[in-house]
Amino acid sequence: MMMALRGASAFLVLFLAAFLPPPQCAQDPAMVHYIHQRFQVLEQRLEKCTEVTRAYIQEFQEFAKNISAMLGRCMTYTSEYKSAVGNLATRVERAQREIDYLEYLRESDVCVESEDKILAEKLIEEAEEKKRIQTLLNASCDNMLMGIKSLKIVKKTVDTDGSWMKDAVGSSPKVYFLIGSRNNTVWEFANMRTFVEDSTKPAPRKLILTLSWQGTGQVIYKGFLFFHNQGTPNEIIKYNLQKRAVEDRMWLPGGAGRSLVYQHSPSTYIDLAVDEHGLWAIHSGPGFHGHLVLTKIEPDSLGMEHSWDTPCRSHDAEASFLLCGVLYVVYSTSGHGRHHITCVYDPLGTVSEERLPNLFFPGRQKSHSMIHYNPRDKQLYAWNDGNQIIYKLQTKRKLHVE
Ligand SMILES: *[C@@H]1O[C@H](CO)[C@@H](O)[C@H](O)[C@H]1NC(C)=O
Ligand SMILES: *[C@@H]1O[C@H](CO)[C@@H](O)[C@H](O)[C@H]1NC(C)=O
Ligand SMILES: *[C@@H]1O[C@H](CO)[C@@H](O)[C@H](O)[C@H]1NC(C)=O
Repeated sequence: MMMALRGASAFLVLFLAAFLPPPQCAQDPAMVHYIHQRFQVLEQRLEKCTEVTRAYIQEFQEFAKNISAMLGRCMTYTSEYKSAVGNLATRVERAQREIDYLEYLRESDVCVESEDKILAEKLIEEAEEKKRIQTLLNASCDNMLMGIKSLKIVKKTVDTDGSWMKDAVGSSPKVYFLIGSRNNTVWEFANMRTFVEDSTKPAPRKLILTLSWQGTGQVIYKGFLFFHNQGTPNEIIKYNLQKRAVEDRMWLPGGAGRSLVYQHSPSTYIDLAVDEHGLWAIHSGPGFHGHLVLTKIEPDSLGMEHSWDTPCRSHDAEASFLLCGVLYVVYSTSGHGRHHITCVYDPLGTVSEERLPNLFFPGRQKSHSMIHYNPRDKQLYAWNDGNQIIYKLQTKRKLHVE
């Protein structure tokens, strides 16, 4: 829970700083209730007046660092306090996103009081937001998944966990093989043939990274390997495979990496994905319900472009992938039997579950260690029970609703 607090946002911290008597632990439920009430007021003001909010932010940000040390000392809680703080953390995250958005909207500098104006402003904001997301997800790609056509096992190993892939952009024929869920050795095969035949002519190159990965969420994008840095809850590394050095790093906010992304994938805390729109991260959100959070990442600067809370649950999930800006989550009951896609999330709202056919995977009994879409060849690369698999897909144009 402390991680949640520190990670969640400076906002809760500033908030506590503003309304609590100085350095002591808030263990009293009445105090929590009081914080809750004050927070409600703050949320209302947040909606009402961007300018006041901005002033708040600036003022309170000064407190943030000072107070976080104090919060770090509060190690014992009643369970009531824990869940109250959990709730607050969720709401604070929401507020934080709103703040980020407000800061993005540079033009809305006027503090209005009239309800009509507030409403009008809200509508404009919503329209702006919609436009921004549409621009963000405006690639020349308009497909939705209609079925998983075939399965091809290209290689068999004894390792239950791992990932394999080609670069998601460009034309490099190289195949990358990452065995295990915590390691630093990447095998680079010249092409698919040498990978399939395990050919020693030419032998695969062994690349030892300076850091180890955690889980099976790695992707290769424009020559860079992106992975969750082992031993950290939420750090994503951008690794230059040519120079064999860390190029850049980022920290996913919102309590990312605190729990497994998918219930049946026991080592992946942050999953990464690439589709026609670029780079994405998928992680489990805060709280006990474990809904997936989808975040769009700008691969050059490693900035966060946008984040969405999805309705898709982590429970009984084993993997997910993005295709044309839509998240498809693969489920299986207790990790056995048929694997099917029963949750789909489209940030633009064009594709919904009701419009999709029954999407299930052929064969295989065990849970997938990873399933990643490659927008270059438009097929899925998967790892199941030690086998490296390619699934071919059937797609069709999205139906547009106005
Ligand atoms: C940090 O806390 C100290 C007392 O613990 C106080 O004197 C100081 O003004 C605080 N700084 C800020 C920026 O709030
Ligand atoms: C999407 O891109 C096309 C051209 O590629 C452009 O004409 C259109 O205006 C863009 N739409 C948005 C919402 O940015
Ligand atoms: C890392 O992977 C290599 C092969 O890719 C293997 O030889 C080595 O034992 C692995 N290390 C660990 C700690 O699992």
